[in-house]
Amino acid sequence: MCGITGYIGTGDCSTIVAQSLKNLEYRGYDSAGVALRNGSLEVYKQSGTIDDLTVPSMPSATCGIGHTRWSTHGAPTDENAHPHTDCTGQVAVVHNGIINNYEMFKNELCADHEFTSETDTEVIAHLIENALADTNDLREAVEQVVSMLKGSFAFAVTAVGHDGIVAARQDSPLVIGHSEDATFLGSDVTAFVEHTRTVTFLEDGDIAHLLEGDVTIVNGDKLVDRERQTIEWDADAAEKGGYEHYMRKEIHEQPRAVRQALSGRVDELAGTVDLDLSLSQEYCNSLDEIQIIACGTSYYAGLYAAELLEQYADVRVSVHIASEYEFRGDRDPWRTLVVAVTQSGETADTLRALRKAAGAGTRTLAVTNTVGSTIAREVDDTVYIRSGPEIGVAATKTFASQITTLTLVTIYLGRQRNALSSTEASNILEKLTAVPSAIQQVLDTESTVRRIAEEFADGDAFFFIGRRLGHPVALEGALKLKEISYDHAEGFPSGELKHGPLALVTDETPVVAILTEGTNADETLHNVKEVESRGAPTIGVTSATDPNPVFDTTLTVPKVGLMEPVVANVYLQLFAYHIAKRKGRSIDKPRNLAKSVTVE
Ligand code: F6R
Repeated sequence: MCGITGYIGTGDCSTIVAQSLKNLEYRGYDSAGVALRNGSLEVYKQSGTIDDLTVPSMPSATCGIGHTRWSTHGAPTDENAHPHTDCTGQVAVVHNGIINNYEMFKNELCADHEFTSETDTEVIAHLIENALADTNDLREAVEQVVSMLKGSFAFAVTAVGHDGIVAARQDSPLVIGHSEDATFLGSDVTAFVEHTRTVTFLEDGDIAHLLEGDVTIVNGDKLVDRERQTIEWDADAAEKGGYEHYMRKEIHEQPRAVRQALSGRVDELAGTVDLDLSLSQEYCNSLDEIQIIACGTSYYAGLYAAELLEQYADVRVSVHIASEYEFRGDRDPWRTLVVAVTQSGETADTLRALRKAAGAGTRTLAVTNTVGSTIAREVDDTVYIRSGPEIGVAATKTFASQITTLTLVTIYLGRQRNALSSTEASNILEKLTAVPSAIQQVLDTESTVRRIAEEFADGDAFFFIGRRLGHPVALEGALKLKEISYDHAEGFPSGELKHGPLALVTDETPVVAILTEGTNADETLHNVKEVESRGAPTIGVTSATDPNPVFDTTLTVPKVGLMEPVVANVYLQLFAYHIAKRKGRSIDKPRNLAKSVTVE
């Protein structure tokens, strides 16, 4: 995830800004840069690591902004690195998030502004240049520009001839640090935690003017007074936003991750999605089959998507564990689309399967989190899931983002193939846009889930059951638990219990059942009774309004239609996390596992 930093004060500005970039390194990035202001503006930026970036000592500089970039618009190149400047080189901008309507502005501005990058950020610099010609007040210019932009973002600007830094927050975090002789800015407190622990968290819609030892914040047309807080976290905890583990932080980032996946891509009323795909209507209609290839959690996201694609895009779908994939010679490569689902974009098994398919002449599409990854570079089309970097080895937020993105792909194909009416598409989009707040409701019950996890932690083994869309979530729930707690956990389609696994069920084997929309809950309920009569403790994860008393414990899922199992999965993530924590496991780096599996 990109990181913003800023400093204004009497200290050694260039060293402080350069160090703050190092502090933000943990967020993941592929390029970095700073802009330092003395009388003029000096910009240093480049792709690669912060160690590759030379920021010269500049004792005359009193104000600076910096950035670590995780690519979303445009490859990780020197030109696309932030800060971005206007035509005069007097305005510098660093930015996180996505500007949905940047193309419209870029098209308009192109006539008399020269663009030097492929980023959405650069339009902000040019728009501020224009606004400054009107107002000559940096804060007012930023206010004007913010009112024109659509999307979820945070940015910071400094400009020659204007004091301080102006920062704007819209859906993407920003925090200000206060010390006696300086003011700091960061995407999180890690940016400056060694200098001050007195902070102000900005809220959505805030525009802050940072001066040395002074800050003014406006929201809309009101001056606002945000409370200063004292952070007790040490630098390690600060990197994790105060969470003890990246995994828990990333579980809690899911509402934002899902919002980012949807941002600027959906027209809920019209029932359409825009994914910038080059798949023509004729091609979509000619498709006989979609083959999804993936591993682990991404494979389960693929299983989920398969049911949606078959139902709403009316196309046959097969889902393959990438290491088992053989492109079948009896399929017509021209009528088959191969979709690689991969967080990292580097998984060797997925890459090999993809190359096999591409070698047979098949069209390929990647659904990935990683701009510039090998898989993103090798496919015909890519749709990014926009989760931001996931640092915990166990995938969490990317599962939710993958399913969200694959649902958008489903709607795109369904509309192209005339298999989905605009009304049906609108209904699905309405449910999708409700997912972030539904996930938040689940996250708000974390203390209850922790208590339940601690109660069941000593089970001999754990079984997760579900049907249809509940099945991939049962598999994912079991995978999460086994990965980080090292307990034996298995996921099954509920109907399979009686064909073997039931022999393992005792009063020491908790069974977690997914019973939401899209999971044939009534049928799973019969299976729950089967395990209960063998003494197994049961946990029902359900959206039923009158939960069946059959369960020992019930966790309630907000109603969001076919997305309910994704929301149910958040309970399973928290359940796994708290069991692993109780057992003192190495949660972010489980034994024997790697985040990016680049060997076959
Ligand atoms: C599980 C997990 C793995 C990955 C798998 C595929 O928590 O993280 O199962 O999902 O290794 O990785 P990507 O999605 O990067 O291809």
